[in-house]
Amino acid sequence: MRRPLIAANWKMHLGREEEALGLVRRIRHPLGKIEGVDVVLCPPFTVLALLAEVLGPSRIALGAQNMHWAEQGAHTGEVSPSMLAGLCQYVILGHSERRASGGSTEDDAAINRKVKAAFGGGLIPIVCVGESGEQREAGATDDVVRGQVSCALAELELDQARRCVLAYEPIWAIGSGRPATPAEANRIISLSVRGAVADGFGEEAAQAARVLYGGSVLPDNIETFTAMPEIDGALVGGASLGPEFVELVRRASLR
Ligand code: 13P
Repeated sequence: MRRPLIAANWKMHLGREEEALGLVRRIRHPLGKIEGVDVVLCPPFTVLALLAEVLGPSRIALGAQNMHWAEQGAHTGEVSPSMLAGLCQYVILGHSERRASGGSTEDDAAINRKVKAAFGGGLIPIVCVGESGEQREAGATDDVVRGQVSCALAELELDQARRCVLAYEPIWAIGSGRPATPAEANRIISLSVRGAVADGFGEEAAQAARVLYGGSVLPDNIETFTAMPEIDGALVGGASLGPEFVELVRRASLR
């Protein structure tokens, strides 16, 4: 039985201490009372250490929004696995907003290096995949998503593939107010996301890995996603930036 997980991707918001603390002080106690669902907050780097200190050992986990694969070196602006390891448990990798840069630190091969480095550093990656609107119209969704998953997970050990969190985030659904239908998200997650994990690591691993849906998830629609058998929770952008996030997590816990 896979345990539901709701991850909050704050993106480039709430990165000043008082803003981050303002929200965390409002949500930490109510979130701590909700059973049956894992919660991860992924704030900007600037407040990660502060929130690690404030939350301490708590039911609310922390994640970073990106990471370099190297341990150290001449990589201006980057952060390494060991720099994060003491501060958080998860790291979002391959978000479409980063892949869109087209840079060599965000292509499929780089994301694979980051995924391996995350596990090497004791972090659980949350690997984002998803097709653009154009790719969808061209009927390429399965190919695109399968390719992203198999590249990201290439050469992992079986146990790592099982523990990896994947997030299916169709690009056209992000921040658009137009989520995928739960049935469609469930279908792609089963066919393309778990299908690619099964091709590389076998059906048992494909059934063990947690797969989230992301893209315009709100308190009002979360239950329609978590009701789907293949969807284990959500990666939430906009609706994670205010106290309504507590209600979203509460509804996810009703699964
Ligand atoms: P929204 O929930 O704002 O659509 O963002 C989704 C997302 O990109 C999470 O990583």
